[in-house]
Amino acid sequence: MNNSSLPLVLVTHKLPKDWLTPLENHCRLIIGPEDATIFSPKFMQYLHEAEGLISLLSINIDKELIEKCPNLKVISNMAVGYDNIDIETSTKRGIPVGNTPGVLTEATADLTMSLLLDAARNIRQASQDAIEGRWKTWSPAKWLGSDLNGATLGIIGFGKIGRAVAERAQAFGMKILYTDRCDPPTTFLSAKRVPLNNLLQECDFISLHVPLTPETHGMIDEQALKLMKPTTILINTSRGAVVDTQALTTALQEKWINAAALDVTDPEPLPPHHSLFCLNNCLITPHIGSATFNTRRSMAKLAVENLLAGLEGKKLPNCVNPEVYQSK
Ligand code: GLV
Repeated sequence: MNNSSLPLVLVTHKLPKDWLTPLENHCRLIIGPEDATIFSPKFMQYLHEAEGLISLLSINIDKELIEKCPNLKVISNMAVGYDNIDIETSTKRGIPVGNTPGVLTEATADLTMSLLLDAARNIRQASQDAIEGRWKTWSPAKWLGSDLNGATLGIIGFGKIGRAVAERAQAFGMKILYTDRCDPPTTFLSAKRVPLNNLLQECDFISLHVPLTPETHGMIDEQALKLMKPTTILINTSRGAVVDTQALTTALQEKWINAAALDVTDPEPLPPHHSLFCLNNCLITPHIGSATFNTRRSMAKLAVENLLAGLEGKKLPNCVNPEVYQSK
């Protein structure tokens, strides 16, 4: 087949080459820069022709952009979350949107536990003190943290990742309370479902695992933070905007809560010198929940499968707006 007759696919960010190998001979690829946060003018010139789009969560696929793509047949987001995409517009246009669920559950749950342990035991601060010469001797009352064993972990959002965190936390001897929009498919371990306010008031650790939707946007606001105990540690590996950043900053500065460990922030990334970066009781990592070699490779594989199905007019293996198929 003459190469120019192959469909044009835009990949918003540079990805390791072998992740895209299955696309060879199926499409022509235009690949964006590694650190794109917006579509560059150079990239924009291809929108009209593009039949497929592989995107990452750090780029906004809004109505305006979708309207510039009259030939678009599929959007494949290499992420489980898809709050960066205007799903309503995509659906109205009959464009299926794919995501990558399942494969990142364990890696994200592992990172959640890493953040929880780090914040509970002051690992970052203690390591920094050792490096910078403040470790003079074995100290009976320095670098003291919180026990996991016997502590209560509140999980907000008891989907796949929330439940994987619960499994790990139970192995550490933690009690689990959770909130969710729906009941889990089966009774899960000895986790107990409670109203949100009870969870906020009773838990020693609170971990967020909800998708970002209009209902969850800013759900951890001043009122929610004030309900937490002064000893509570908040962990967020979901989406930054689930937490009101200004309210959290004040809560940490004024010690309404003990500490926070955030893999996601709002905005993301935070600007340099943001107040949260200056707080000893706030640990921040750069959205690395799914960042293991195997997980990211698996996510790319699912994204490529979704893209190829969409280009061929087949149902996407993982489609977030299956309504598009009803009208076809
Ligand atoms: C990561 O945050 C994802 O949604 O895949």
